[in-house]
Amino acid sequence: MPLVSTKEMFQKAYEGGYAIGAFNVNNMEIIQAIVEAANELKSPVILQVSSGARKYANPTYLKKLVEAALIETNIPIALHLDHGDDFEICKACIDSGFTSVMIDGSKHSFEDNIRLTKEVVEYAHAHGVTVEGELGKLAGIEDAVNVSDEDAQFTNPDEVEEFVRRTGVDSLAIAIGTSHGAFKFKPGQTPKLRFDILHEIEKRIPGFPIVLHGASSVSQEYVKIIMAHGGKLDDAIGIPEDMLREAAKSAVCKINIDSDLRLAMTAGIREVMDTKPDVFDPRTYLTIGRKYVKQVVAHKIKEVLGSDNKAE
Ligand code: G3H
Ligand code: 13P
Ligand code: ZN
Repeated sequence: MPLVSTKEMFQKAYEGGYAIGAFNVNNMEIIQAIVEAANELKSPVILQVSSGARKYANPTYLKKLVEAALIETNIPIALHLDHGDDFEICKACIDSGFTSVMIDGSKHSFEDNIRLTKEVVEYAHAHGVTVEGELGKLAGIEDAVNVSDEDAQFTNPDEVEEFVRRTGVDSLAIAIGTSHGAFKFKPGQTPKLRFDILHEIEKRIPGFPIVLHGASSVSQEYVKIIMAHGGKLDDAIGIPEDMLREAAKSAVCKINIDSDLRLAMTAGIREVMDTKPDVFDPRTYLTIGRKYVKQVVAHKIKEVLGSDNKAE
């Protein structure tokens, strides 16, 4: 099946009260783990590529690996640029066959964000590609954007209707308390998301797909494996899965997960390196890393997002 756009995926997710997982891809093992899990569970999936991933793996290698995934599977897969920060990177991805791009203008003023987002939308729509914009700022480290906790700003519901209307975006990433990375809350802090803001936004733009970034749950199962095998990840805390389940039933149609995959891969590699110090064949430890990433993706699809059995 060829790559699909996110348009139909989001429409079905909105109506069906579930969300599509958008998983970050950086190498062959991660791509294999994600698409094998999604394929076995008959779930649509979004593979997303950051500019850091493009630098690490080379855009051509990533694109060809995704093409291999299309041959090996039979599910709707969208290829999405994560956190594009200027027109050029969005154009490069559109020109190379991505079916969706994010233009993250959240570090700019409202007017500059609109101007940049609109420019990308015009080019993308002329090429049949969907666009995700962002309003509000998440805490944590984004590619090329480092937003401290103090600078994080929740999305202002008063701005969303105007932003969507003037830019023509197809989906909107909002800030309601999620953040990037594995340290989302301080020890002793109770994790909290501003569902009141989400519901207000839903009222202002009914039927419009919302995106949640920074949605890893930082499963303690994998943190424990990492710690037991020499890692140091004290106080890693993520978004409780119940909150993501609730979000998936609302207008949230896309949930971004990267850190949980990094933790699973690291847990597998550390476990092998530590328990089998004589191993030096990368296939041995990457096999376990890939297995753990696949387990995480399957768990998200089935137990959190509810996108299993939704592939046509
Ligand atoms: O939101 C950021 C994603 O986790 C991608 O991270 O820019 O280090 O590839 P990266
Ligand atoms: P996490 O760091 O919570 O996995 O978020 C990933 C993300 O938002 C990618 O855009
Ligand atoms: Zn993000």
